[in-house]
Amino acid sequence: MPGVTTSKSAGNRCIFGRPARIGKGDSNMPQVAQPFFKTGIVWLIVGIAIGLHMGISGDHRAFPAHAHINLLGWVTSTLFGGYCALNPAKAQRKLAVAH
Ligand code: HEM
Repeated sequence: MPGVTTSKSAGNRCIFGRPARIGKGDSNMPQVAQPFFKTGIVWLIVGIAIGLHMGISGDHRAFPAHAHINLLGWVTSTLFGGYCALNPAKAQRKLAVAH
């Protein structure tokens, strides 16, 4: 239909309008962003495990560790990854790579 963009005419695009490519090592995301996302997910799993343990046992003493693992580990790591993913030029800089 004229004037209507279908998924076929637009091609497969990611949420940022870039062509979406699926497959390991075949993404537009800067390389440096990936370790941040992966590390963040590891922290999230650990943080949620501690949260669930506190909830189930009723012993909330570990909440400072839980809060810091979730907020510093998962949230900040994912924020760094997101920043690098959205700023590919800056993600190439020495400081970002060293970080
Ligand atoms: C299944 C997931 C989660 C469970 C079962 C869970 C469970 C809990 C429990 C039982 C507490 C202790 C509450 C208290 O004694 O006052 C707590 C505290 C807290 N959680 Fe979670 N949590 C989960 C996910 C998260 C996530 C994803 C975040 C952050 C991104 C988070 C951040 C915090 C913070 C900041 C506190 C401290 C709150 C306070 O000072 O009272 N939690 N959580």
